[in-house]
Amino acid sequence: MGTPVNTMNPNVHPALTRLKTEALGAWLAETWQAERADWLVMLVNNAVVHQRAMRLWKPSRRLPGGYCFVGASPVACPVTPTIYAQPGDEGLNLVTGGFLYRFAPRETGAALEVLLAAAYTEEEYHTVTALACLPPDFLPVWQAFEKGCSKLAHGLSVREDVRIIGGRARSFAPTVDWDDIVLPEALKADLFHDVHGFFRKGVPIYQRLKLKPFRKLLLAGVPGTGKTMLCAALAKWAIKQRYLVIYVSTMDGDGAQFWKIERALQIASDSKLPTLILLEELDAYLTKPDEKSMVLNVLDGSEATANEKGVLLIATTNYPAAIDERILKRPGRMDRVFIIPEADAASADTLLRHYLGEVWQAEHAALVPHLTGYPGAFIREVALHALTQIAHREQTHLPLEVLEESFRRLKQQIAARDDFLTRRGTLGFVPASNGQHA
Ligand SMILES: Nc1ncnc2c1ncn2[C@@H]1O[C@H](COP(=O)(O)OP(=O)(O)OP(=O)(O)O)[C@@H](O)[C@H]1O
Ligand SMILES: [Mg+2]
Repeated sequence: MGTPVNTMNPNVHPALTRLKTEALGAWLAETWQAERADWLVMLVNNAVVHQRAMRLWKPSRRLPGGYCFVGASPVACPVTPTIYAQPGDEGLNLVTGGFLYRFAPRETGAALEVLLAAAYTEEEYHTVTALACLPPDFLPVWQAFEKGCSKLAHGLSVREDVRIIGGRARSFAPTVDWDDIVLPEALKADLFHDVHGFFRKGVPIYQRLKLKPFRKLLLAGVPGTGKTMLCAALAKWAIKQRYLVIYVSTMDGDGAQFWKIERALQIASDSKLPTLILLEELDAYLTKPDEKSMVLNVLDGSEATANEKGVLLIATTNYPAAIDERILKRPGRMDRVFIIPEADAASADTLLRHYLGEVWQAEHAALVPHLTGYPGAFIREVALHALTQIAHREQTHLPLEVLEESFRRLKQQIAARDDFLTRRGTLGFVPASNGQHA
């Protein structure tokens, strides 16, 4: 028989997982199965050691055959200590150790005790394996019990993903690390503290004032400066806090329609969790006058949501000219605007090194002053184009001239686009000197 592969974490030697499982099985066989010849030692769903399921299970709840689950008590098990994960820990709420699970028939008859052992089978404490020893004819009862536990354990928790409105399920991945975003540290810290501060300190203040906690931020910047990246990194953080994250996109062919904002607010309002709404391309919702007035009403917002835990809406735009004074200047419509800038010299240098990776050489720094003032996405394109050029030639060394040529080529494309936009008179919002304005 082949060695089982640990698909959750390939760095853990498969033997570790196997040995742990075998040790649990051996303990059950010795302690319980030895006196109950036809009972089986089997792998069971670890939802049965989920603390929330245990807490919420009602003893009166009926299982097949008239059984009721009346409780689990810990028993000393030499191969797995009893460890409680703190409720709210990321994805965890499981408890390990040895346990006796007691099932009583509702009418007459003896109670049945199932011995169970659960242990972490990974170094990183992510996977709990559970085994139990039970009689074969009890299986239908046990399976119903597992199913019930699974519902209680997972039904109420936040799914490890994002509710997406107006995009395909995979169109937004909250996998960006905060450190991967190259922007002035002060700006990143300011934004993060605003978001964090709202949920931790702001919400209780609103509650004391009997107001619904609803805050609105705007990330504004030319295309490709990292606004969507910021949204993804904040989503990742919020998911870790077990908040609800809703991502509203215009990418589904329906474009910017007010019902999307409405639906997002409805979900946020119904939720019992602190909620982060990420609304991409706010400007696009403001092009039709009737829809615009509805958006303005929502942004006025005191009645926009009934969520007591707090709703933070972060909107993005790369076309701030479309977001007129009525939104920016009227207090309360947008609580704060963060300008997401193009790369300064330090960021341009970091981005170039990052995207060139191993190919980067000191001489490439000569291009940095030219890259300064362009968005991150532009610098990435310059690097990637240069890398594909040398890959075609099967070279590993990147001559500075090739990098410069890649820059010139892209700059021409951008110049043509800027020219077009300037003629339409759409560019020209002035970043505040400190990178954002309140
Ligand atoms: N500040 C940055 N740090 C690191 N990478 C960046 C940064 N800005 C842009 N990039 C790179 O460019 C890509 C596009 O950036 P992103 O989608 O976040 O831009 P955006 O501001 O949302 O643009 P748009 O306004 O067009 O939606 C990113 O996936 C990343 O590879
Ligand atoms: Mg974007």
